[in-house]
Amino acid sequence: MPKRIAVLLSGRGSNFEALADAVASGEIPDAELALVISNREGAPGIEKAQRRNIPCRVIPSRGLEREAYDRLLLAALEPAGVDLICLAGFMRLLSPLFIARYRERILNIHPSQRQALEYGVRYSGCTVHFVDESLDAGPIVLQAVVPVYDDDTVESLSDRILAEEHRLYPRAVRIVLSGRYRIEGRRVRLLEPVES
Ligand code: GRF
Repeated sequence: MPKRIAVLLSGRGSNFEALADAVASGEIPDAELALVISNREGAPGIEKAQRRNIPCRVIPSRGLEREAYDRLLLAALEPAGVDLICLAGFMRLLSPLFIARYRERILNIHPSQRQALEYGVRYSGCTVHFVDESLDAGPIVLQAVVPVYDDDTVESLSDRILAEEHRLYPRAVRIVLSGRYRIEGRRVRLLEPVES
């Protein structure tokens, strides 16, 4: 049985597309995109899912408290029999209730360029991590680094990081779906070599 992936997004959906491409090409083997959910109407990511004939739902979150919204999400996800949830630009924190239901089965990706330019760092990058109750701080599956150049703008640096995100997220999903890892405290121990 192919593993069933759900993607939660709020906007553009370029990471969703990277995952969908990787499933279609077999880079993520034995998997299918079962459901895409947006909490925002008109999210371009939803149009992208529709064009690919991937089941999608818009479940607006405006005005709803965190747990009330998460119950709606769970009601949509559970009948879909989802094995892994990938947050991809999903602009909402998930409640402990939701996280407990899908413990160690939720991934998120985020860039680390916040304030990087002003701070003067030489390298920035992105992280794929399991989602736990802490903000952007669950056990890390994979990270990628990109150089920061003297003439970078926020936009040029974000573009460089985003290109890495699109490579990194499918690799992380592939690892997690393969089951070839162990979570030990904050560390994710990979049981097979990571190709770059
Ligand atoms: C990405 O930078 C992702 O890391 C962050 O939000 C952005 C979403 O972009 N969490 P997209 O919707 O996947 O194009």
